[in-house]
Amino acid sequence: MFETTHAHIATWVIGLLLFVVALFLHKSGNKKATKIVHMVLRLFYLLIIATGAILFAKHSSTDAMLYGMKFLGGLVVIAMMEMILVKVTKGKKAGVFWVIFIIALIATFLLGVKLPIGWSWF
Ligand code: HEM
Repeated sequence: MFETTHAHIATWVIGLLLFVVALFLHKSGNKKATKIVHMVLRLFYLLIIATGAILFAKHSSTDAMLYGMKFLGGLVVIAMMEMILVKVTKGKKAGVFWVIFIIALIATFLLGVKLPIGWSWF
């Protein structure tokens, strides 16, 4: 199962979808549903980290630096999703966190694709 990246991709795709759903639910004023989706998203943070960490443990010896950057980038994406949701649901501005989120997401995605397992675009 962890010779491929399928499980990891499934968890971060679902995680990103839940993040967007929680933001829309908040916008529509549905507090309870936002809270529930946010809770489920937190579970997916753990699954993203667990599947990523297993891939990391198995393969990082081939390029410790890039794998290390991928690990950190993934953690930053997750931290920013959490910060944005907490700020937005409290009615506060999340501008800086959005900027870091977008940059970290692009960097993490490109690094993931560049690394040898799974998709190989570069
Ligand atoms: C929301 C956050 C994350 C996103 C968007 C993301 C995205 C990706 C992508 C696009 C790939 C390449 C898939 C493929 O080529 O088939 C990948 C692979 C990988 N990710 Fe993540 N990831 C995230 C979080 C994490 C975290 C937190 C970790 C570490 C705990 C991690 C570790 C890895 C590892 C080790 C690989 C395998 C790279 C390879 O050998 O090709 N990722 N990820």
